[in-house]
Amino acid sequence: MKHLLLSSLALLSCSATAAFAANEVIPIRTNSTDLVLKVGPNNRLYQVYLGERLLNESDYQHLPWDVYAASDGSVCQRGWEVYNTGGSEEFFEPAIDITHTDGNTTTYLYYQSHEQRTVEGGTETIIRLADNRYPVQVTLHYVAYPEQDVIKTWSEIVHHEKADKKARNIAPNGCIQLRSVNSAMLYFRRPQYWLTEFSSDWAREAQMSSQQLQFGKKVVDTKLGSRAAMHSHPFFEVGLGQPAAEQQGEVLMGTIGWTGNWRYTLEVDNVGALRILPGLNPNTSAYQLKAGEVFTTPEFIFTISNQGTSLGSRHLHDWARKYQVRDGEKPRMSLLNNWENTYFDFDQEKLANLMKEAKTLGVDMFLLDDGWFGNGDHARNGDTAGLGDWEVNHAKLPGGVPALCDAADAAGVKFGIWIEPEMVNPMSDLFEKHPDWVIRQTNRETYYYRNQLVLDLANPAVQEYVYQVVAQILTDGSVNGDSRVCYFKWDCNSPITNIYSPYCKDKQSNLYVDHVRGVYNVMSRVKENFPNTPMMLCSGGGGRCDYEALKYFTEFWCSDDTDPIERLYIQWGFSQFFPAKAMCAHVTDWNRSASVKFRTDVASMCKLGFDIGLRHLNDDEIKYLQGAVANWHRLQGVILDGQQYRLVSPYESNHMAVNYVSASQQKAVLFAYDIHPRYKEPLSKVRLQGLDATKRYKVAEINLMPGEASTLSENGKVFSGDYLMKVGLDAFSQESQHSRVIELTAE
Ligand code: GLA
Repeated sequence: MKHLLLSSLALLSCSATAAFAANEVIPIRTNSTDLVLKVGPNNRLYQVYLGERLLNESDYQHLPWDVYAASDGSVCQRGWEVYNTGGSEEFFEPAIDITHTDGNTTTYLYYQSHEQRTVEGGTETIIRLADNRYPVQVTLHYVAYPEQDVIKTWSEIVHHEKADKKARNIAPNGCIQLRSVNSAMLYFRRPQYWLTEFSSDWAREAQMSSQQLQFGKKVVDTKLGSRAAMHSHPFFEVGLGQPAAEQQGEVLMGTIGWTGNWRYTLEVDNVGALRILPGLNPNTSAYQLKAGEVFTTPEFIFTISNQGTSLGSRHLHDWARKYQVRDGEKPRMSLLNNWENTYFDFDQEKLANLMKEAKTLGVDMFLLDDGWFGNGDHARNGDTAGLGDWEVNHAKLPGGVPALCDAADAAGVKFGIWIEPEMVNPMSDLFEKHPDWVIRQTNRETYYYRNQLVLDLANPAVQEYVYQVVAQILTDGSVNGDSRVCYFKWDCNSPITNIYSPYCKDKQSNLYVDHVRGVYNVMSRVKENFPNTPMMLCSGGGGRCDYEALKYFTEFWCSDDTDPIERLYIQWGFSQFFPAKAMCAHVTDWNRSASVKFRTDVASMCKLGFDIGLRHLNDDEIKYLQGAVANWHRLQGVILDGQQYRLVSPYESNHMAVNYVSASQQKAVLFAYDIHPRYKEPLSKVRLQGLDATKRYKVAEINLMPGEASTLSENGKVFSGDYLMKVGLDAFSQESQHSRVIELTAE
């Protein structure tokens, strides 16, 4: 009875608003894009426009909500519902699918109210929708960042349904089930749609390929549980009208902030409209939502560029540095990592020597990787044991973290350390003590990925343990309360397999989501309590590369593949969505056929680091490296904080070129790489972008080997920005694996 009364009240309030709200227009605007929503005569909310900003707001009134025309010419009174629902007259993939506590699977959402408020960097539009038969509310959020042309959107779902005794087997615990839930829904009507996706695997991250979308659905997703990527990355581009191109054409670029199972559904419908649904992957994940609990979807971030992906990327880079990535506007540290130098085989003395090598190179920090923890039978001397036991290995490092900090202090570099705190090896004290803290089906054979399992972060006790592990390492070795562990590389190698949590009991289908939320709880606590410790995200290479995790991390490891040729493609791919500042690139011994100069020049276009032993290098190479590190530090403000212009794609040529320009346009750096030019291949000049056409720039090739003279014909000369952008420089060569770094300084 009470339920009935509630429903009728909701119905009354809906229809009362309906009379008032029909035709209400809600514009969500950036400097170049309009997303216009409108309340239909039925009081439901429709998208009536998404594209280049309309000059006259008065034109909004002409935008029809019933955008569909039936094939016989009659209007079929159906629009693009902003957050369409399962079980309705909407025949395509819904934004949300709910099973109510009485087993009913239909949901209809009606406009209730909306408001707009100023937030950091832009305007947030909050729209409240509600079902008229069930006490279910959905709140849509859109934050528009005008200057960056970026819109960030997410949704919140809450209900106040009662457990239905008659339907006990459907909702035993009074929960509704979110059978699928998306962050938002976007529609486009263009003659053609071309999807560019970023497929991946270990050591093959962010590989770009395009295909035309035709009628039906294309789904891109992951089911890895603990990471955002392995076989596909959480970002995509859609060329609207033509394939996405760097310099021209309309393109949508979108990315979801979720370090777990996400899904993009791109569906071309019967009238040729493209429907895009970014959201959580519903696979084995019907979420059981308690009454009164707010379910917040991941954020979906998108931009629309009318001048190709290059401009779209710059908008995303700017937005990310200003509003999303942790410490996005602060400088970054260069480093020397010991992983490929030593793997698990090191002791205090070896590390102390590497710290001295770090100083010789001129980098800011020494980073100690895997292998420093675990004792006795569980010593971490390989990848089979020790994960979970975060006590320093006494045999290798008798002085512990304090002695390592002392050695780093003595060498004159900062000290950073690797952790993988969400994981456990069965061969560990932690596993023996808390087998119930691990995600796995005990009545099945265990499937191991790199000999490890994932801790159950849905469990608050495990969250607490992981937080304390991190806090303990960060405070170990402190002097006068100041942590001397100045940096974390936070790894996560295993996806979730055989999913089951003793903690989740009758809500196993919540585990994929609650696990990720538990990870974020720990990460945000670490950020709050250790605000000055920069941290690198890593996940068996570039498996964690999403904008939610980057709220808590300053940068991410793009790939274990540091072969410079492969890196040109990987860095080209990631740069579509992420600023160079967030992308870690290290010089290693992968591909020794490439010179140290080539390898370093490739890493220098991102956040520079090394994983290389100086003992294998000759004096000239060491001198070159010292100069290159100094140049990178000197030009960090241009490379990491400037505007990036991708000039020549490795996908379309045997070369790659990119230039960065400082905010004042006083400085620019051009990176030009030759991969494997053909015999007598005609070379084009590289035309720069983003310079001030009226300024005059002096051209200087830098990062040269000691004693080597530049062979760049324009070296040392002065040209106008106009000339450099229209005519360009002879920066490419006929040599394989050859590179040039060119500094341009306005006079
Ligand atoms: C992962 C990372 C590597 C390294 C190893 C250590 O594979 O991607 O960089 O840290 O773990 O085990």
